[in-house]
Amino acid sequence: MSEVTNQTAPKRVLSGMRPTGKLHLGNYMGALKNWVALQNETNVDGSPKYECYFFIADWHALTTDYADTSELPTNVQDVLLDFLAAGLDTKRSTIFLQSEVPAHAELTMLLGMITPLSWLERVPTYKDQQEQLKEKDLATFGFLGYPVMMSADILVYQTDFVPVGLDQEAHVEITREIARRFNHIYSNGDQEILPEPKTLLTPSPKLPGTDGRKMSKSYKNTVLLSDSEADLRAKLKTMVTDPARIRRTDVGNPDVCPVFDLHKVFSGEEIQQSVRVGCTTAGIGCIQCKGWLADGVVKELAPIQERRKHFEAHPDEVNAILDEGAERANARAEKTMKQVRSAVRLARR
Ligand code: TRP
Ligand code: SF4
Repeated sequence: MSEVTNQTAPKRVLSGMRPTGKLHLGNYMGALKNWVALQNETNVDGSPKYECYFFIADWHALTTDYADTSELPTNVQDVLLDFLAAGLDTKRSTIFLQSEVPAHAELTMLLGMITPLSWLERVPTYKDQQEQLKEKDLATFGFLGYPVMMSADILVYQTDFVPVGLDQEAHVEITREIARRFNHIYSNGDQEILPEPKTLLTPSPKLPGTDGRKMSKSYKNTVLLSDSEADLRAKLKTMVTDPARIRRTDVGNPDVCPVFDLHKVFSGEEIQQSVRVGCTTAGIGCIQCKGWLADGVVKELAPIQERRKHFEAHPDEVNAILDEGAERANARAEKTMKQVRSAVRLARR
């Protein structure tokens, strides 16, 4: 993570997530946990290091799921509860819903005017997703323009840093290109209106799901942040192991076992060492090994689930958080849009 020494104005950090429903351990370890850490970073004098904006990208959900929006409200609610459960805190971060900040749409439209089609057609996810989601008709204006909307999400806050995983890096790159083009075509005197954001690459540990493939909602192999202890123990019990370890008396190899990949994330050194020894000597069975893993996961999730319970029981508090988030986000976005409108010469004054 890059060091920021300038203490006068905290750098702005922004990231977003699509409302995919209840979040799993992979979403947490690969994004949310890092957001919470950024939110909590402080300078030597105790002041917050970053001004953070985190949002639920509900308009983005429509780029692929426009045909059936029946689950959108529940998915938004679930992601929001997971945000708050994970420790995102409205005292330190602005937490909001994309569709409640219309400036995202206005800037998307204006950036669309200057974005060459060829830039969009060569974004790697464009063809990939069309191939992968064959059952959906993604030959739409909205889907092609998705990176423009993401650029607007970022640029409308004049964001300095965008914490994302490797899969989103190409999108931040096109954001930089669009910003450069905007600044080249339009300017307010010497002032650069849309600064180029930087990617803050989120370190994401390898997190296999219960079938050994990457943990992903579409594989149905996830452990959810909100799974009860009984559910998560049951899920982990079915997890695939070193395929060569068939009988209890066979020795195993943790280095090829997905269960051990999770131990590396959720268990301390001591447990990991006991697994290494026990597995390679057939001293422990896989069920025992998975039980130790479940202990680690339960421990990591305990404070998260406690906070989730609190927010589930206090819907008014949750609504107030979104109201306040929308208000703060709108105010900050409007500040940028004033400069943008004036640079494009849309403003009368
Ligand atoms: N495209 C991101 C994803 O699929 C979500 C997203 C939308 C986003 N707008 C953003 C992330 C702006 C960072 C910044 O995960
Ligand atoms: Fe995997 Fe643990 Fe079984 Fe070894 S003992 S094969 S690490 S589950």
